[in-house]
Amino acid sequence: MTITNEPSPGSPGLARAEACANIALAKYWGKSARGGNLTAVPSLSMTLDALRTRTEVSFSGSLGEDELSLNGVAASPQEAARVITLLDRVRTSAKISERARVTSLNNFPTAAGLASSASGFAALAVAASYAAGLRSSCGELSSLARQSSASAGRSVYGGFVELLAESDQASSVPSTRLNELVMLVLVTSAEKKPMGSTLGMNHTSETSPVYGTWLEQAPLLFGEAKAGLLTGDFNRLANAMEDSTRLMHATMMTARPPLIYLRPATIELMHEVSLRREQGYPEAYTMDAGPNVKLLTRASHLPNALAHYEAFLGVERVIVCRPGPGAARLSPEGELMDASRTQELS
Ligand code: PMV
Repeated sequence: MTITNEPSPGSPGLARAEACANIALAKYWGKSARGGNLTAVPSLSMTLDALRTRTEVSFSGSLGEDELSLNGVAASPQEAARVITLLDRVRTSAKISERARVTSLNNFPTAAGLASSASGFAALAVAASYAAGLRSSCGELSSLARQSSASAGRSVYGGFVELLAESDQASSVPSTRLNELVMLVLVTSAEKKPMGSTLGMNHTSETSPVYGTWLEQAPLLFGEAKAGLLTGDFNRLANAMEDSTRLMHATMMTARPPLIYLRPATIELMHEVSLRREQGYPEAYTMDAGPNVKLLTRASHLPNALAHYEAFLGVERVIVCRPGPGAARLSPEGELMDASRTQELS
């Protein structure tokens, strides 16, 4: 079979794509009882330009099974199962049966609460769909990615993105007055998280006595965060993002047995950011299913924040992220192919 980067519908080939990670400003934690990997609560995120995954997918009649390499190593059985589920959905839609070779590379630590599943499954959804000859809309790509990892549905879009509760697809939150927002990833640990997020969410919803409070409060905090973003009110967004973060972690921590993702360096940074916000600095923290703190600030405050946190005890590295583009296909040389779509989405 000839491998080409321009497969026609029904003739599978090779495609490459790139997607950025995203960090939730209003968190989701918990699946809907309706199944299908729908989320129980709405979430709002910022796509991050500096954290990227590049994925290549090639379907070939000569492969006996799917071959998957993630960051230079063969995928574990759990990782492989999730990737193959997405490939099977694509094969069903494209009516093909060829197996695929998938190669995926992140430019940041995998599975340390840095949203690698978000960029990973968004890039995979785009590359696999194109390689299979499908011409999916952004909404369809978001749905495909979301079914594997709900946060990945958000990484198909650039800039600021929402995924409503029980919604199949994420959507872009149109241009805001806080476009100069910057997210600093304060890397204190690159260790892998103890439990994957789906297992962690199910365990939390089944055992935490405060999970009901989370379900009640998360939509209100989402509304507050979105209003802060749309009206250009940094403090309103900052307060809602921190409330959402602490309530999500309180729910995780009260699961039985508890899920404690935060480490001593995380707590020190929470105190430091609170203190500096009281002093008038535009800074706010958020953490996901891992110990690393992400600091939201304004571009005008970046030099000050960068100097301060690069020197902070326990911070090994700071990654500066601005609002990033939506997922896009790459040419064989790695150039972005769909610049018009990327611009439209960011
Ligand atoms: O979509 P998942 O399964 O990767 O879970 C993401 C959960 C959090 O990152 C903790 C919160 C969020 O909304 O991104």
